[in-house]
Amino acid sequence: MKLLITAGPTREPIDPVRYLTNRSSGKMGYALVEAALEAGHEVVLVSGPVNLTAPKAATTVQVETAVEMYEAVAREIGSCDTAIFCAAVADYRVDGIEASKIKKTEDELILKLIKNPDILGSARSEFGFSGVLVGFAAETDDVLAHAQEKMERKGCDLLVANDVSRRDIGFDREENEVTLLFRSGESQVLSLASKKRIGREILQVVENLRDQRKP
Ligand code: C5P
Repeated sequence: MKLLITAGPTREPIDPVRYLTNRSSGKMGYALVEAALEAGHEVVLVSGPVNLTAPKAATTVQVETAVEMYEAVAREIGSCDTAIFCAAVADYRVDGIEASKIKKTEDELILKLIKNPDILGSARSEFGFSGVLVGFAAETDDVLAHAQEKMERKGCDLLVANDVSRRDIGFDREENEVTLLFRSGESQVLSLASKKRIGREILQVVENLRDQRKP
């Protein structure tokens, strides 16, 4: 397989020294990259800013903003047969980034935010991607219902749901527990384990989906 994997947060500048971002260490995405390389696949990693070293064997494109991530994915996805969107992309960016540092002279600072492109949501419709498509969903409430809706809306073959209201798993942790949702309506829990292990398990499921598609 040749996989495109997005990982980490995006960073949306407010001025030259400040930005908006999402909580994401990139550990889950990088674990998927390692698992895919170990299994002998080719990987294009599109990574937001993280404190992790990208494996040398992957082709890595470093980006900062959601728009940059969108452009990198648009460029790379055509050469891949599988895409895993693990990045925590900022839904909004600042409209009118200040060229100079904003001074704290006022009591209030009002930022106008505009919507970022939905990269996963563009895979089928904009990029014409017909390979195996995997999304992630970090939810705090009604985790499975939201994840199921997202899978259908974005045309995914598999959606990995993360309950981020739990403190023992998810953000910045070494461990994770996720529920896999399939198009058939079936689901599978991958119980508490290291992100590395969860990455390997997800990759095996993705390999099976890929094999089922082969003529
Ligand atoms: O809609 P939501 O952001 O919760 O969907 C999460 C999934 O969509 C993740 O797989 C994430 O990587 C992807 N996503 C994206 N571009 C966005 C927002 C989310 O690719 N602008």
